[in-house]
Amino acid sequence: MEATAKAAAPPTAPEGGPIVRGLPRGPRMNRAVQTAIWSRRAQWMLEQCRARLGPMFTLRIAYEGEWVIVSDPAVIKQVFTGDPKVFHAGEGNQILRPLLGENSVLVLDEKRHIGQRRLLLPPFHGERMQGYEEQMRTIAAREIGSWPTGSPYRLRPRMQAITLEIIIETVFGVHGGARLEQLRDALRGFLDITTDPRFLAPMLAVGPERIRSLPAFRRRVDRVDELIAAEIAERRAAEDLEQREDVLSMLILARHEDGSPMSDVEIRDELLTLLVAGHETTATALAWAVERLVRHPEKLERLRDEVLAGEDAYLTATIQETLRLRPVISIVIRRLTEPVELGGYELPAGASVVPAIHLVHRDPRIYPEPESFLPERFLDEPPGTYTWIPFGGGVRRCLGAAFAQFEMTVVLRELVRRHQIRPVRRAPERNYRRAITETPRRDAEVVLG
Ligand code: HEM
Repeated sequence: MEATAKAAAPPTAPEGGPIVRGLPRGPRMNRAVQTAIWSRRAQWMLEQCRARLGPMFTLRIAYEGEWVIVSDPAVIKQVFTGDPKVFHAGEGNQILRPLLGENSVLVLDEKRHIGQRRLLLPPFHGERMQGYEEQMRTIAAREIGSWPTGSPYRLRPRMQAITLEIIIETVFGVHGGARLEQLRDALRGFLDITTDPRFLAPMLAVGPERIRSLPAFRRRVDRVDELIAAEIAERRAAEDLEQREDVLSMLILARHEDGSPMSDVEIRDELLTLLVAGHETTATALAWAVERLVRHPEKLERLRDEVLAGEDAYLTATIQETLRLRPVISIVIRRLTEPVELGGYELPAGASVVPAIHLVHRDPRIYPEPESFLPERFLDEPPGTYTWIPFGGGVRRCLGAAFAQFEMTVVLRELVRRHQIRPVRRAPERNYRRAITETPRRDAEVVLG
């Protein structure tokens, strides 16, 4: 991206100087070119721009207005702890509204966002995860036990099968039988909408509203809605509702601040939000963990030894290091509702501030040898709140962070216990963008033994 070498005109970076009103510099290329590069090589673009323009710069992306990328932890702290009335995250997720609905925690801001988040938090509390361990382990063991040995095998789609099954059982609370199969098929059809270019192209071309008129879109959404409505109705009447551990049952019992229960539509919107937010992300993180481990056989051996000895410290550190070095999501977005002073600039209302997860995680001042896969770095020192941000931060921090890490622990433990694993090729897999996640290009291709 040579064009970035000649950055656009001032304002220049202030570094302790007077506050500059306006946006930091950005690449000179026009919006269309910047968008094209971003959509294919986002992480590379971030690195190039930081090298040439410093820790704060502006990208211009189609439909997104101005993105002020920030990568300094002190600035990121300001963003994550900033007033939610000023730093809007839901606004940037409107593309998901036709799919996830008006009540989705992802598309809301301010009071309504906090209201929904309050209802969703209790089932995702860290300590609650232990209750899901047995279900997660059984699902992982069944799936991993069916994988072929001795020939190249791509793990990412199989990890997706595991994470989907885990969500159906722990979040929807549906176990076995024809009901589970119908729901699984319908949810797969629904999830395809988020990755299939047939749906993404019209969504980007004419905006999310028109997508509703596509018969194939409606059919898939209607089918999911029908099954979820039946499940909610049945669950509301279940005699063991109070004893049930699944998220759906807990949402039925949850109460708004005024004491009212969640409506069927609210519950539907949040169930699908959890599915979309939690399924592909966790599967991709699992695929990256394997991709990294097989290229470091000595670390894989250490992990196996410790898992077999019943220790979890190295496994936890491995997951943390995977999410540092290969964050599934490269950025998070906050749109400003009023001017904000940040990093020496007074940024205008309407611009977005964009903490770059990828850049913070590759900063050599925070992580010596940032390109190396070194789980050991997290053994003595736990990850920092504003320097390790694969799950974003503040009032928008990923609701499923504890769930995802726990799930990864259970699945990886099961995998290394059961299989020897080696890479198909020696060279590391590069990343490619699948919808919003950064995925291993060959889907974590390995040979199992
Ligand atoms: C490794 C797996 C995962 C990664 C890397 C990940 C990452 C993220 C990120 C970066 C955000 C945005 C945070 C921000 O804007 O500051 C987010 C939000 C969210 N995630 Fe996750 N996530 C993962 C798994 C999950 C799971 C398993 C669930 C639920 C089952 C989940 C549910 C959510 C929800 C509901 C939000 C929206 C929170 C809000 O807006 O208040 N995620 N996630």
